[in-house]
Amino acid sequence: MAQAKGYTRNNGPLRYAHITGWGMAVPDTVMTNDDMAAIVETNDEWIRTRTGIRERRIANERESSATLGYKAATSALEVADVLPMDIDLIIVATSTAEHVFPSTANLIQDWLGASKAGAFDLAAACAGFVYAVNMATQAIRSGSIDTALVVGAETMSRIVDWTDRSTCILFGDGAGAIVLQGSDQEGGVLSAVLRSDGAGHDLLSVATPNVRELNGHTLGKMYMHGGEVFKFATRVVDESIRQVTEDAGITLSDIDLIIPHQANYRILQSAARKLNIDMDKFVSNLDRYGNTSAASIPIAMCEAIEQGRIRKDDHLVMVGFGGGLSWAAMCVRWGIPEPSQLQGNRLNRQRRRAVYLLARVRARWNRLRRAWNNVLRWSNPRNIRLMRLRRRANQQKLP
Ligand code: UT7
Repeated sequence: MAQAKGYTRNNGPLRYAHITGWGMAVPDTVMTNDDMAAIVETNDEWIRTRTGIRERRIANERESSATLGYKAATSALEVADVLPMDIDLIIVATSTAEHVFPSTANLIQDWLGASKAGAFDLAAACAGFVYAVNMATQAIRSGSIDTALVVGAETMSRIVDWTDRSTCILFGDGAGAIVLQGSDQEGGVLSAVLRSDGAGHDLLSVATPNVRELNGHTLGKMYMHGGEVFKFATRVVDESIRQVTEDAGITLSDIDLIIPHQANYRILQSAARKLNIDMDKFVSNLDRYGNTSAASIPIAMCEAIEQGRIRKDDHLVMVGFGGGLSWAAMCVRWGIPEPSQLQGNRLNRQRRRAVYLLARVRARWNRLRRAWNNVLRWSNPRNIRLMRLRRRANQQKLP
């Protein structure tokens, strides 16, 4: 009997999913707490002491979750030295897509020229990146794919309610991406815990036009019951870290670095206290970016790598939590060459550039071709008659 394509390695050696590339992108525009105080009644001291945030990045009108995600993705491919056509799967964790469909992942796939990749968005709010890495890991471990690109990208500034001082001060825009590749070398993603408590759906939400009841909230704008979400976060962060380390077969003292979702510095302090782990082991860049939702963990990971805080065989724990309510943790044993040993092959770099250029030319050409086909279609006399009839019918329908 023929074997199902894509699962042929089930009978072969066990595959491990390793992070082999990483990249981040943030908008250039910096918004400080003082800038925020010009919009809502707040002040630098309140924001700093209650959250740890000093400033955040805000996207301009030409930037979106897709453009930031694309930038982060190209950097990650560069580090991993992977060609776009070798990507099997693209997952974008985001709550701020430009469209319901096409997905942000569809756009990034097109711009990269990743012609053999499947692509979809994953909605698990601030836990989305860890969920997405786990989905890609499972696909690699099953043997169905070899190379995945996982992106966390957000433009939170588009969905915050700029009249609500308790939420708008928290969020910022940005994107981070990783390349995950299959290998026989033991290590990489060791364990993951994904959890949901939909009973808390009304504590943190953004309503779409499909919502049944608005309950006094504004369509398309974020609502958060900060205090309740704070309590939830301080409960689940340490619980899920304990669970994921146990599942990975290590102890809390084996953890070298924790890369948490950047929501509030006080949440990280509480987790450090409960776990009896030094605050130095928690990566925090909240002061510069605020809460970038699904993008916060990959951005923090990129900065930790840049700062030389991650070395071969280190045990890392990522933990995300937020809307849903959803939360997720993951334990990784860093198993690839040290960043200094990674150097993109020059020829491949040129090939990647050529593929990106080709993808742009192809997209423009397709748009032109469609426009030209429309001109041809509507200059046909039969279609002109049809159009007139339709217009007349529509006019008659009007009161
Ligand atoms: O990424 C998803 C996960 N998100 C989170 O984990 C966020 C969790 N929640 C939090 O981080 C915190 O609850 C907040 C930072 C949102 C709020 O901090 P808080 O210490 O819980 O403040 P609060 O909501 O209890 O408000 C305390 C006071 C209130 O005034 P009164 O009623 O005591 O007079 C608020 O009106 O602070 C006031 N307040 C502000 N004052 C100045 C609320 N926002 C502001 C503000 N500036 N921006």
